[in-house]
Amino acid sequence: SGGLVAFPTETVYGLGANARDGHAVARIFQAKGRPQDNPLIVHIANLADLQAVVADITDDAWALARAFWPGPLTIILPVREGIAREVTAGGDTVAVRMPSHPVAMALIRAAGLPIAAPSANISGRPSPTRADHVWADLAGRIEMIVDGGPAGIGVESTVLDLTSSPPLVLRPGGVSVEELRRIVPDARVLPRYGTGAAEGDEREGPARSPGLRHEHYSPRAQLWLFTGEWEAQVQAIASRARAEAEAGRRVGLLVSVQTIRTADKAGIPNTVIIAEAGSRSCLGSVASRLFDTMRHLDSQDVQIILAESYDTAGVGLAVMNRLVRSAGGRLVDAGEPG
Ligand code: TXA
Ligand code: MG
Repeated sequence: SGGLVAFPTETVYGLGANARDGHAVARIFQAKGRPQDNPLIVHIANLADLQAVVADITDDAWALARAFWPGPLTIILPVREGIAREVTAGGDTVAVRMPSHPVAMALIRAAGLPIAAPSANISGRPSPTRADHVWADLAGRIEMIVDGGPAGIGVESTVLDLTSSPPLVLRPGGVSVEELRRIVPDARVLPRYGTGAAEGDEREGPARSPGLRHEHYSPRAQLWLFTGEWEAQVQAIASRARAEAEAGRRVGLLVSVQTIRTADKAGIPNTVIIAEAGSRSCLGSVASRLFDTMRHLDSQDVQIILAESYDTAGVGLAVMNRLVRSAGGRLVDAGEPG
């Protein structure tokens, strides 16, 4: 009936509306404060629905759907008539995915409609991985939140543009590039973790996915991302934390269990708030906690967040993409341990 319903998916919470109702979809943009030119993902619950949303299903699309759906992969294809133009931001392509979360599936089936849904956060904020994150951002602006507990994966779906040749990963996410290339071996990825800081022939990337320009996954505090050898990062983070704390600023650390263990010795002042980001040996644990730890540090009113870097293999690429974009250029090269 034209209302907005936030619901859990296996990646993050989405803010859903009837994808065929332009007024309902327009309300998503209002509720989030989302720029009008940033198109939405259409969520479906079975393969027959794909035919109703896109104009042409390529061989790659069938193969990807068979391999990864339901699951955290979004594909971009030419749009079919009947999808509200607000969904595609007036463009001739549409992003589609079939989420694997049982509550998302049940909602789409009960509605009997394709559901347009961005992440259910205020535009620019970290995506919500729990119902209370949605509540914090959108209470009073939307009709309903379906609470299905914490989202499992914690970072958004991988967005793959199948209308470009070779296919282009516009956003790394829950399905890794390594996994994708088993089905589409020639898939390209934007350099520098898909941050839009592209060079040469990759320069078209940001224009292709408007989301690359707009969203920053930003905590309210200034996030600084440390790079270089891990031991050097631990040292640099510890000494920066000391300096900031001594200067009277409220500092938060977004760091792995390994860093927490090691940095104790390096002498981090106990006024510094430490949020455990997960384990360096299981980047899925970092992905699932990433946005929640950013929101937790914000709730502690820290002014500065110091974060470490991770390997870009597997889901690590999605983690680093979100961290680089949260840092918005505040990168610190710690070099080698000194
Ligand atoms: O995991 C997810 O994908 C979550 C859950 C709710 O499904 N949704 C999500 O939606 O992250 P959103 O709107 O926050 O991100 C969608 C991304 C944006 O970067 C947007 O620009 C891009 O997909 N996108 C959507 N339609 C597109 C299109 N037709 N062409 C290029 N990029 C598109
Ligand atoms: Mg989003």
